[in-house]
Order: sequence, then C-alpha cells, then structure tokens
Amino acid sequence: MVALRDVTLDLPRASSTAILGRSGAGKSTLVSVLALLRTPTAGDVRIGDVSAGGLDPIGRAHLRASEIGIVFQAFHLEPAFTVIENVMLPWHFAPHSERRRVARNWAHEILEILEIGELAARRPNQISGGQRQRVAIGRALFARPSLFIADEPTGNLDEETANGVADTILTLPARLGATVLVVTHDAVVAERADRRLTLVRGRLGPGDETR
Ligand SMILES: Nc1ncnc2c1ncn2[C@@H]1O[C@H](COP(=O)(O)OP(=O)(O)OP(=O)(O)O)[C@@H](O)[C@H]1O
Ligand SMILES: [Mg+2]
Repeated sequence: MVALRDVTLDLPRASSTAILGRSGAGKSTLVSVLALLRTPTAGDVRIGDVSAGGLDPIGRAHLRASEIGIVFQAFHLEPAFTVIENVMLPWHFAPHSERRRVARNWAHEILEILEIGELAARRPNQISGGQRQRVAIGRALFARPSLFIADEPTGNLDEETANGVADTILTLPARLGATVLVVTHDAVVAERADRRLTLVRGRLGPGDETR
C-alpha cells in the first residue's frame, strides 16, 4: 500500500508547522521519512543544503544525530536509565563529544525548562505519563537540533499539562531557532502553530479539514 503520495513540504527555518489528519492518514509515516528513519520509494528529503537521498545509511544517521530531534508517538524512554540519563541518551552514543559534566548541566537546564528538574533521579516507571512525555521532549532537545519533530506530543496529557507542553514546543523557534513540526489531533496546539497542513490518505493539503 502507499502511505504518502506526492507530498511536497517546505519547512522554513525557525517556523512551526502543525500536521493534522485522521488516524492512518500517514502522519507518523511522514514523520519517519522527515526524520530519515525511513527512505521514501521516490523523492528526497533536504535539510539545509544536504540531500539525504545522496547519503548512505551512516551519513543519514550522522545527519539525523546532528540536525534532528524527534519525539515519538510512543515515548521510547529507556526504562533502566534515570530521567536525566534519558535526556543525556544522545551523549551516551557519543560520550567524547563533550565532557560528562557539561552534558549533565545542559540536561539539567533542559529539565528545568520543562519544569521537571526535581525528577532527574527517577526512572520512567516512577513518573507520570505527562512527565514521561516531557522527558522525551528533553531528550529530543539535547543535541540542539535545527529540526524538532514531535508526533502527538500532547496525546496523553490533561489540558493544563498539554498547554504547557505545547507552549514549550511552539516557543522553540523563538528560543532556540529550531524549526518545529508537530503532528497533533489537538486543535489548541494546532492553532498556536504558524501554519496548519492536513494529510488525507497520504496527500498533504492546506487547512484543517480532516475529511
Ligand atoms: N510498517 C508499516 N508497514 C505497512 N504499513 C504501515 C506501516 N506503518 C504504517 N502503515 C500503514 O500506513 C498508513 C499510515 O500509517 P501512519 O502510522 O503513518 O498513520 P497516522 O496518520 O500516524 O495514524 P495515527 O493518527 O493513528 O497515529 C496506515 O494505513 C498504516 O496501517
Ligand atoms: Mg501516528
């Protein structure tokens, strides 16, 4: 089956875009293509001047690690690690990139931004769903990505926490210069993005009609 058709999407630097669409419309597939986790059968993804289609898998992994932060629909936290270790996970893959103390301080700063600094030493099964979601966001921010992608980041949250998470994500362009793409069913989140696009059976169109 075809999950995405003729999708052309330009994400201007430091802008925010919300993707809407019904279950099965292809949103998570689009996310994994943009995050270079799946290679499309046709077409290309360009990040800045770099064409992902021209890279081998290792080149794509490096491009992803340096440019892209992703929050998955299922959080995929590492259960054996504490909250702060989960945020520092990218550092564990490249432990010589900066000193552990520098990395830990940055991870702590991120937890403070996300208002979960006091949970640093807990493990994922010792915190709430909304707190886990914020840890996943923190981990995606750790490498200072130029492209931040979140798949249903407020799907499991109460309204107030969802507003806080939406606030964090949608102010990233202004605060960190990041380009934000957020998949959401939440009208409040979508309204706050710079623009809204809708996927209907794999085709991308303007507006928020989800027929
Ligand atoms: N690995 C896969 N192999 C084959 N088909 C898949 C695979 N992953 C998803 N699909 C199918 O592709 C279509 C798009 O799926 P996708 O996960 O992108 O939807 P979605 O818009 O994210 O939905 P939801 O809102 O439920 O998360 C669906 O019909 C789904 O069943
Ligand atoms: Mg999905």
